[in-house]
This record gives sequence, C-alpha cells and structure tokens, in this order.
Amino acid sequence: MMKIVTPITELRTQINEWRNNKQCIALVPTMGNLHDGHFTLVQQALAIADRVVVSIFVNPLQFGATEDYQTYPRTLAEDSEKLAQLGVHLLFNPMVTTIYPSGMESTTSIQVPKLSEILCGASRPVFFKGVATVVNILFNLIQPDKALFGEKDYQQLLIIKRMAADLFIPIQIIGVPIVREPDGLAMSSRNHYLNPAQRVVAPYLFQILNEMKTKIAASQREFTRLESEAIESLKQLGFNPDYVSVRCRHDLTIPTPQDKKLIILAAAWLGPARLIDNIFCDL
Ligand code: PAJ
Repeated sequence: MMKIVTPITELRTQINEWRNNKQCIALVPTMGNLHDGHFTLVQQALAIADRVVVSIFVNPLQFGATEDYQTYPRTLAEDSEKLAQLGVHLLFNPMVTTIYPSGMESTTSIQVPKLSEILCGASRPVFFKGVATVVNILFNLIQPDKALFGEKDYQQLLIIKRMAADLFIPIQIIGVPIVREPDGLAMSSRNHYLNPAQRVVAPYLFQILNEMKTKIAASQREFTRLESEAIESLKQLGFNPDYVSVRCRHDLTIPTPQDKKLIILAAAWLGPARLIDNIFCDL
C-alpha cells in the first residue's frame, strides 16, 4: 500500500522506521503530471532500493516571475494512482509553507556558481538556485541513500551532483537516460502546451541534434558553425531557439580538441513551450 504523506511529522515517522530497519531508500523528486519519463526513474528506483519515495512538489522557487508556476499542470489523482500501481511506498506531497517555513524570500538557499549561470541558467536566472535549494531540502527531509534524476535535464543533473559533492551529502546521485515518444520527442510535462501543429514540428529538435552528431562523427570540428546552422534550421521550422551548444559531458565547459566525451544540448521555444533536449556524442 502506498502512503500519501503531506505533513513532515508523518514523513519522519515512516522514514525513521525504514532507517531503523536498515532499509535502503531511494528518492525520485518530481513536480508531478507524471509521464513515462518519470515512471522509468521510479522503476529504476524500485530495482535498486528497498523503499521508494516519490515527491510531487511544484516548487515556486524555481519559476521566474513570468514563468508558468500558476498554470503548471497539476494531476495528483492520476499521478498517485499510477505510482501506487508501480509499487511506490510513499508519495510525499508537501505544501509550499511546509517546504519554506520562513517564506520563500527569506529561506536559506543553495547556489552552485558557474554551472548554474550557463545554458539554461543564462535565460532562467533563478531556476537552478530554486532547484538546488528544494532538492537539498528534500534530501534532508527524506534522507535517501540514492536519488534519481533524468538526463533530459542534464544541466540540472550535473548541478545536483556538484551540490552533493561540494556539501558532502551522503547520497548517491543516479542519472537515468532520456525517455522519448516514438517520434523522438523527449517526454515532458510541458509537451501538453503544444497544439497539434506544433506537436508535429517538435520532434525536429531531436532530429537536428542527431544531424549535428552525425556531422561531428564525420570529423566536422567547427562546433560554432554547426551550432549556428542548427539554430538557423530551428528558426526555419518555427522554433525560437535559446541555445544549441556542444559541450564537455562532465562539466559542460566548451570542448578542447582533447575532449572526447561530448554532449550537444539545445533549448528552444515552440509556441508556448520551452523544449530542451540533448544527445551524447563520443569522438
Ligand atoms: P520534473 O520536470 O517533474 O522532472 C522530474 C524528474 O524526471 C527529473 O529528474 C527529470 O530529469 C526527469 N525526467 C523528466 N522527463 C524525462 C524524460 N523524458 N526522460 C527521463 N527523465 C525525465 O525536474 C524537475 O521536475 C524539478 O526541477 C525537480 C528536480 C523535481 C526539483 O523541483
């Protein structure tokens, strides 16, 4: 039976019982409106831990003033039914005042410099501070042994890994590969914002990343030119691109000729949806 827990006292009681019994706990943090991408993280968590906690919390701290906090899809009934079916042990669904008892403006926050300022951080200045802060709070409340994050949000995954390393947080951070729709579009709660015509165009984002990867595999090394060409193609298709960038996979710095493990990342608006995607590229 899956427990649905909102107050911290009840969460603590359950976590303490599990910890006293030396059970391994895995956490999957989410903002809800769950899809197969989230469920893959959950299944992986169930395979590597005795107890799995999923959190659903639409975190106001990570939304900019003009972003979609109010309209972000909230589907708790469907989400909890599916999580129960999968065999999740506890669903933590806290209130904003529980997570930020001092108020959002006054709360202690976590900043991961440099890594949070590039790519998505450049156009969403408060985003990664909000993410790092809430994930740190969830880590402290749930005290999991492991926590799972999707590679779809690759920069987020690296920021959480960096935070855990810098703060000596004794939690293993596990990245899970991107889950895609049959046509290649990375699954995302924000895909629901697309109208049918935009939904047809959306998979080209992944296709353009694939074409770049093919060119790089065929020894093209002028990354800046490849990036501008990709941005141009995206514009032609009706996207409003934010960035397309070839980076080192371990720290998202700009690659030197010695770097072999690369990642191509992109973010682009399509109508009301800001889509992100990435693809690994080994030289
Ligand atoms: P959310 O967008 O709900 O995503 C929750 C987790 O699911 C993240 O780790 C994300 O990378 C992963 N995920 C989403 N779509 C995926 C896909 N198509 N394939 C693989 N994994 C996917 O990311 C957040 O919430 C928040 O920022 C959070 C970490 C919960 C902090 O508030």
